[in-house]
Amino acid sequence: MFNIHSVRKDFPVLDEVIYLDNGATTQTPVPAVNAMNDYFLKYAANHGRGAHRLARQTTDNYEDARDRIADFLNTAPENTVLTKNASESINMVALGLNWEAGDHVITTLVEHHSNLLPWMRLREKGVDVTIVGSDSEGCIDPKDVDAAITERTKLVSVNHVSNVFGSIRDVEKITHIAQKSGAMVLVDGSQSAGHMAVDVNKIGCDFFATPGHKGMLGPQGTGILCIKDPDVLEPTYVGGGTVHAVTTESYELEPSPSKFEAGTPNIPGVIGLGRAVEYVQEIGVEDIEKHEKDLASYAAKCLAEIEGVEVYGPEDRAGVVPFNVEGMNPHDVAMILDETRKICVRSGYHCAMPSVEMLGVEGTVRASFALYNTEEEVDSLVEGVEQITMLA
Ligand SMILES: Cc1ncc(COP(=O)(O)O)c(C=O)c1O
Repeated sequence: MFNIHSVRKDFPVLDEVIYLDNGATTQTPVPAVNAMNDYFLKYAANHGRGAHRLARQTTDNYEDARDRIADFLNTAPENTVLTKNASESINMVALGLNWEAGDHVITTLVEHHSNLLPWMRLREKGVDVTIVGSDSEGCIDPKDVDAAITERTKLVSVNHVSNVFGSIRDVEKITHIAQKSGAMVLVDGSQSAGHMAVDVNKIGCDFFATPGHKGMLGPQGTGILCIKDPDVLEPTYVGGGTVHAVTTESYELEPSPSKFEAGTPNIPGVIGLGRAVEYVQEIGVEDIEKHEKDLASYAAKCLAEIEGVEVYGPEDRAGVVPFNVEGMNPHDVAMILDETRKICVRSGYHCAMPSVEMLGVEGTVRASFALYNTEEEVDSLVEGVEQITMLA
């Protein structure tokens, strides 16, 4: 197991606050910030657009970052498209597949809005959308996905880990079920990549979308879309960087991934993400997964023991613990935790209104963990919540 005290030195803000809002975005380690500084201060230029030394170094470092990200997710660089976030990655699939009226998409009730709205909007094109329900702990039964498949099902889109409940899906099984019937599968790995070992090749999904700014510890403004067969998808944007030859009559696109990356990309962000992924690899993603799961189980158990606190989600959970204090608005709980103990947690609907409304509440408080959180921080959260119950 890694040495948490030396890890914490790479995240100086942790000396100031207890940061338990990792489901929204994580902190970025010093080596990744240094890699971005080096880009700005030592060799900044554009990507793929010049013969001079700075352009060459920029292009090499950007492509090295892509190679590392692809290796981390166990896919190939040509199948690894760099985007600005998971929402963009998912929308690229919704906008880039060739939809016909009567096509069918399956998603679930327990999705982030970014994995619901892009499919719901397809209804305007005559696409049917089925939203499979979940149990009260946010778990999806793959049999329910199987039962929803029709001969027109073109895509099944599910998250790997719920950002509301921390429940973990058997995405390998769901992929197998869907592909058996000829449907494609998109896995939204926003809450899994970097928090647990993810092997895109083994999952077998057609698309895997994730931000770079959550478990992979990269900066905001980075995301990834892994595409198994780049030929099935039209690029959402075209322009500089995507094209091999142009006349005034026609153009010939570059192969993947370039054809999906129009314009100047987030070069410093991607270089920072590459270094962040290397950092995660050095620590070991299996150990990170165990650490975060242990913290989440401990937090869920201790919070559930407090009278007047309800904890949601399954026992076997990733590092996400949602709860409510009876008689208190979740935003007030979050504000008090911040004001009294500098604890940063998320409150509200977590961009997933249907999932939260299923609980019959108007929001939850969510503590979500990363590799750098400690048991002492959980103890402080539990003490803080206990004190709040006395105010309720
Ligand atoms: C499960 C899930 N999907 C999608 C997203 C959207 O990610 P991004 O903000 O990077 O687009 C999030 C963000 O919290 C998420 O938790």
